[in-house]
Amino acid sequence: MSALFTLGGRVAVVTGAARGLGQAIALGLARHGADVALADLDAGALAETEELVRASGRRALAVATDVTDEEQVAELFARTERELGPLDALVNSVFTPVLTRPQELTLEQWERALRVNLTGYFLPARAAGRAMIARGQGGAIVNIASIAGTSALGRGNVAYSVSKGGVVQLTRELAVEWGRYGIRVNAIQPAQMRTPGFKARFENPELEPDGLLEQMVEAIPLGRIGEPDDVVGPVVFLLSDAARMVNGVLLPVDGGNLAMNAGSRGND
Ligand SMILES: NC(=O)c1ccc[n+]([C@@H]2O[C@H](COP(=O)([O-])OP(=O)(O)OC[C@H]3O[C@@H](n4cnc5c(N)ncnc54)[C@H](O)[C@@H]3O)[C@@H](O)[C@H]2O)c1
Repeated sequence: MSALFTLGGRVAVVTGAARGLGQAIALGLARHGADVALADLDAGALAETEELVRASGRRALAVATDVTDEEQVAELFARTERELGPLDALVNSVFTPVLTRPQELTLEQWERALRVNLTGYFLPARAAGRAMIARGQGGAIVNIASIAGTSALGRGNVAYSVSKGGVVQLTRELAVEWGRYGIRVNAIQPAQMRTPGFKARFENPELEPDGLLEQMVEAIPLGRIGEPDDVVGPVVFLLSDAARMVNGVLLPVDGGNLAMNAGSRGND
């Protein structure tokens, strides 16, 4: 029974692995038996994740990569296959913050949000798909999307939300295109998670006004902000054989946020 949920001996690439959800996921995949290639812009912090993966007893390969750069992405996947073996899985988890009201949003900010948060998902997915199709043994991809891919957040999140809506459709299109090759593509939709990026925003009162954190918690029926480790189980499930017939889904990891209508707040 438990073999269904193992990733024993699989090779995975995780992007955004230097911190936050990407780091928690990389360590979680290793704890479930995978060898992990780690990609991020931040080479220094990536080396820490690499050490932690090795300490858990699995192989790790840190490759400083800008996931918006085609050549660097190609090199990431070539090195992964050369040094760790044929690719079984990819998790996309990079993030760049853009928090500006639509009427003030510059073209540069709009394009940066889409370039990192959407193109930065497409390029690794395309590279992974190519490698998996060439090998002919299928594979699995998980895109870390957001509740913002389905519902609107306001508060200057327009460029971010549009990029996440793009990740949602990228997930569905790839699931449909690559199902014939046995490649499953799914997405996770986290609500607010206590990552370094999230904490930095809440330490800046200009970005997030007083009371917003409490308002967010109120909108989560489970009554708390998530922790990075909360995404590990859902990602492991989607990559594992336990999810072998699961393809093209959006799995909220949001404590019930998307399920709840705003009008139901304060029911009790
Ligand atoms: N934390 C939350 O509350 C939350 C909620 C919903 C969705 N998400 C999503 O989860 C994912 C991870 O978010 P996080 O909170 O862990 O972010 P984070 O800021 O803590 O980490 C993101 C990582 O991405 C890396 N990165 C940025 N641009 C890159 C590039 N061009 N190439 C390579 N690496 C790059 C950064 O260096 C950083 O290490 C994102 O897609 C985010 O939208 C997060």
